[in-house]
Amino acid sequence: MIAEKKYILAIESSCDDTSAAILFNDKVLSNVVASQEIHEQYGGVVPELASRAHQQNIVPVVHQALAMANIDKKQLSAIAFTRGPGLLGSLLVGTSFAKSMALGLNIPLIEVNHMQAHILAHFIADENSARPNFPFLAMTISGGHTQIVLVKGYFDLEILGETLDDAVGEAFDKSAKLLGLPYPGGPLIDKYAQQGNPNAFDFPKPKVDGLNFSFSGLKTSILYFVQRETQKNDSFIKENLYDICASIQHTILEILMEKLAMAVKQTGIIQIAIGGGVAANSGIRARLKEAEENLGWKTFIPKFEYCTDNAAMIGIVGYLKYIEGDFSNQAIAAKARYAIDG
Ligand code: KG4
Ligand code: ZN
Repeated sequence: MIAEKKYILAIESSCDDTSAAILFNDKVLSNVVASQEIHEQYGGVVPELASRAHQQNIVPVVHQALAMANIDKKQLSAIAFTRGPGLLGSLLVGTSFAKSMALGLNIPLIEVNHMQAHILAHFIADENSARPNFPFLAMTISGGHTQIVLVKGYFDLEILGETLDDAVGEAFDKSAKLLGLPYPGGPLIDKYAQQGNPNAFDFPKPKVDGLNFSFSGLKTSILYFVQRETQKNDSFIKENLYDICASIQHTILEILMEKLAMAVKQTGIIQIAIGGGVAANSGIRARLKEAEENLGWKTFIPKFEYCTDNAAMIGIVGYLKYIEGDFSNQAIAAKARYAIDG
């Protein structure tokens, strides 16, 4: 079945961004994101505060998405929402809202897996970016996730590797915190790294079998390094900030690129699609470009607003499921742990 002229309202509330989008088939008409600044002062997301902020944001965000798309809620064909994975209290807000609104409007409800959505964001219609062909490798790198997935079809996904502890964005943010930088520190490490020497300091890379990742050891080694050096010189961080950031970023990128190269070797697939907030990192972009030139890889990075948590990516999955007639019923519940291939 080809779904013609479908308007889909999509809702995302899995972590600390409340987002609503309107799609017209695979085109995004609006994509509103309310980020929660409340967590900054705590240096990380506080689940209870996130849930409360979603409750405050959801109605205005949905209204704004409808207004920006210039459509009335009566024109909607279906409502798609993030069922999981994520923070349960946050997911419950979007799930309950989507269920009630679909019931009130008497239109289909479509549940979406957040991790699938990060990958299928590559299929949002956008004249400036090409779409990967199946099969391809997807690497999702953000504050909550680090995964390499073999994508054989829209809904035929297989996890090849994932983090055993911290996500890569957390590795950036926690390292930044140890250097006294504000949350989220990833973008700052990126900025300072551009002026530093990536080989100034050596941090050990973890030994993890296969395509899995581990970042918690790096955080500990940076902690000991900072403690040791500041004991000798209490302005060590200030005097070496650029070099420290460049060295941390270099180590993280080496870990990511090594695993990607392994995945390419293992599968023989050279199309690689990147998503998640860490895809904004200028270093990873440079490394991927190098791999295109030197190794013949073809890499894909969606527009930045579709990389970070957003409802447009939930909407594209909603549209693809609508075409398949894959709807949910009112008994559906949010799922904090929800495997991409389950
Ligand atoms: O996708 P996202 O907005 O939310 C999550 O699902 O987590 O990703 C946010 C993460 C944060 O850890 C942030 O520090 C990181 O992405 N990040 C970056 C950069 N921009 C955002 N990390 C490194 N370099 C960047 N330029
Ligand atoms: Zn995410």
